[in-house]
Formats: sequence, structure tokens, C-alpha cells
Amino acid sequence: MKDQLLELEKRAGDELNAIDDPSGLEPFRIKYLGKKGALTSMMKSLGTLSREERPEAGKLANQIKVNLSRRFEETKISLETGGSGDDASVDVTLPGREPLCGHLHPITTVIKEVCLIFSRMGFRVVKGPNVELDYYNFEALNLPKDHPARDMQDTFYISDNVVLRTHTSPVQVRVMETQTPPVSVIAPGKVYRRDSDVSHTPMFHQVEGLLVDRDVSFGELKGTLTSFIHQMFGSHTRLRFRPSFFPFTEPSAEVDIECVICGGEGCRTCSQTGWLEILGSGMVDPEVYGFVDYDSDLYSGFAFGIGIERIAMLKYGIDDIQLFFKNDMRFLNQF
Ligand code: PHE
Repeated sequence: MKDQLLELEKRAGDELNAIDDPSGLEPFRIKYLGKKGALTSMMKSLGTLSREERPEAGKLANQIKVNLSRRFEETKISLETGGSGDDASVDVTLPGREPLCGHLHPITTVIKEVCLIFSRMGFRVVKGPNVELDYYNFEALNLPKDHPARDMQDTFYISDNVVLRTHTSPVQVRVMETQTPPVSVIAPGKVYRRDSDVSHTPMFHQVEGLLVDRDVSFGELKGTLTSFIHQMFGSHTRLRFRPSFFPFTEPSAEVDIECVICGGEGCRTCSQTGWLEILGSGMVDPEVYGFVDYDSDLYSGFAFGIGIERIAMLKYGIDDIQLFFKNDMRFLNQF
């Protein structure tokens, strides 16, 4: 019986290999695997065997049936999909379909680039919460309760003492609270203001910078920011420091770069001035050191806040800030 089964397996296998057209499949199935097929009838005759022979022969017969059925299905699939024939219904020489691959958002790219430039200058990247205490967003930055910059128009209030941060400057205070000088950090992230037009969105991005040590001068602030701008926009880019005011820096300066759209000639983007403002900065006001227990006789430092969307608009020549957040693929796929 065992020999007969093995012989049957070999014969069926050879016949299956020889089938080269789907029309040969069904006759084969009937002949071997069908209800009256050779294998089936052999299995029926197992009952005539002695008790000793039966288990082994039964096991073998079952194994052969499983193997043969599997090979039959494989042959069927291969013949029907043209896997082995010349008249293939699938052209395996066609190039495959490329999977759709995403890419970074232009704002993410600019944040990464800004962080890379400052990391190389020795600044450490830190993060702070977007939902911030009034204390860190305003109070400890020398913005007392009645200061006009705290106007309800600009700030999203969660409750009396909790806001969506309006700038990344609160991270300065959080860092100084937990670390003694020397300190040199940058803090990228989202900020929120109640404002929306071609140059404002209610959420945008800043990168904050802070450096505190002994004997830090305004010259180092100028040198650091000049180097940053030259690396970001090219070493030919002209810039100017314009006196300004922030409650948490003294003296304060805003930095303008020569309009990259018109090259300083004067155009719509720069309101005919030839200059574009890209960041706020200044020497940390001694008042702020009072909130974080730094000795202002011993230490001095500078801080700056860079508007990321502003940088991205100039870098890529985009004149509407809203485009960054509309998720229009025709816009995003250009980067
Ligand atoms: N936080 C200021 C703003 O959002 C920018 C700034 C940061 C100015 C640090 C001075 C120092 O406008």
C-alpha cells in the first residue's frame, strides 16, 4: 500500500508539471483529487488494511493529499496569472508603481535649518509648553498686569492665569530658573496671537535664543545674529540693527535685512523701504534676572526671537503667510 501511494504521488506530480494550459487543470483534479479520483479511492481502501498497517498508511495518504492539493492550487494560480507562460496577462517587465512619499513642511525645514546654524555655534535646543502660565509669558518678563502688550486683543486666555503663549520668550525664564550661567539655548516652537490677515496667522512659529554669562556685550549679540543671517541668506546679505523696545530687554533692537525680493530698491513686500524686519532682540533686562535669582552685577546676556514664517517667506519668495497652513498640495509639493 505504501509503495502504491508513493507511486501515485510521483505519477500525479509528473502529470501536474506537464500541464501548461488552464484547460488541463480540471481533468487532473477529477482524476486524482475528485470524489472518484485515484487518491480518494485509495484512501477509501485503507479500511482493508490490518490494524498495524493502517495508521502509517493513513498518515502518508493524508500527507500526499495535502501536498498534491497545495501544488495543484499553485499551478492553477501560476497558469491563470500567466506566471510561467509566454502569453502572460501581467507584464512583469513594466516598471513598478512608486509609493507616494511625503516630505517635510517648509516651516519644519526652516526650523531645522535655524536650529542647525545655532547648534553649530554652541546653542542647546530646548522646548517649553504651548499652554503657559501668565507668570512666564508676561509677569517674569517684566510685563506687569497693566502693560499694553497684554491687551486681550492679542492673547488667547485659557483662564485668568493661563494663556496660549504669545511668544517663545517664556522659555527664557524657565531655563534660567533651573540653570545657572553660562547658559546658551535656543527654543523653537509654536506661538499664538489673535490676529489673521496676509501677514498674520493665529498660530505661527518662533525660535527664541538666550545667552547669559560673565561680560557678555551687545557686540556679541550683533556678531551672533550677523553670522546667523549670513548663513541663512548668504554672506552678501546686508542687515541693520534698529533701536526698539521690549519690556524684557534693554537696550533692544530689531534686525532688518535688505529686502530679498527687490534687493533693496523698494517694493510692495518691503513697503518701499528696501528693508524687512525678521527678529527682535536685546540685552536681557536686569529686572528679569530678579525673577530668576541671577546676580545682575555678575552676569549679562542677550536674547532674540526669530519669526520663522517671516524667514520662510523671504527664503522662498512667498507673499501670503496663510499659504503655509492651508494644506494645499499644489503649494506644498513645490518644496
Ligand atoms: N518675544 C519678542 C516678540 O515676540 C521677540 C524678542 C525675543 C525680543 C527676545 C527680544 C528678545 O516679539
